[in-house]
Amino acid sequence: MLVARDAVLASGLYAPIADAVAEAASPALHGPSAALIDLGSGTGHYSGVVAAHARSRPRMLMADRSPAAVRWSMLAERGSDGVVLDTWAPLPIRDAVADVVLDVFAPRNPPEFARILRPGGRLIVVVPRPEHLRELRTGGRMLDVPGGKATAVLEQFSGLLHALEPRHIHAIVRPTPAQAAALHDMGPSAHHGSPEDGHSGADDTNGTDHANGTARTVDGITVSVDVLTFVAR
Ligand SMILES: C[S@@+](CC[C@H](N)C(=O)[O-])C[C@H]1O[C@@H](n2cnc3c(N)ncnc32)[C@H](O)[C@@H]1O
Repeated sequence: MLVARDAVLASGLYAPIADAVAEAASPALHGPSAALIDLGSGTGHYSGVVAAHARSRPRMLMADRSPAAVRWSMLAERGSDGVVLDTWAPLPIRDAVADVVLDVFAPRNPPEFARILRPGGRLIVVVPRPEHLRELRTGGRMLDVPGGKATAVLEQFSGLLHALEPRHIHAIVRPTPAQAAALHDMGPSAHHGSPEDGHSGADDTNGTDHANGTARTVDGITVSVDVLTFVAR
């Protein structure tokens, strides 16, 4: 999943999302002592883009439940620290130390996220809309995205953090077949489908529908997410 995620993020297909995250984070990053914590960091890509947009490079903590993800993130962002943790448990992070917390396509723990942000610090959350990657969901081997995620997140954080106006990022991207396969393989749906039923997880996405034996071209893939920004009081 990390290899596939890295391929997609390096391709630039998700660049509008990364740019929106960096824009949302930048007002909270003042100087080289600023601290950014990436919870569910994956490959650390979004931290890298945020750091590249910042006036000076922040200190970075890569946090993920997967040791492989933490290792990958730390190698990608030299000089960063890393910690293997479970977002749903109390975080091993002191109160009010983070200028920016990133939570991109990853689980959330609202009271803990609010606790580790310093006053004026920002939490950036990215959640998919139901139409996100919908062209890859035909055939039922990719998990559906339930509606109302952004509303649910805003409710989760109400009373804890101040929500700014959400941003909707919508784009139609044209991946190569290999990139389309990586879009599938980078998420939990990579575990759907099996050699037994004649499908590798990637079959849905490379433009060929093996189920009915027809070649199916994917002309464009919808990218549709909400970028939510919260400010600590
Ligand atoms: C969909 S990936 C997103 C990774 C990265 N933020 C990105 O968008 O490229 C979700 C990440 O959250 C991590 N994760 C899932 N559950 C977690 C938990 N309970 N605690 C910490 N990390 C978790 C996974 O290991 C994975 O790296």
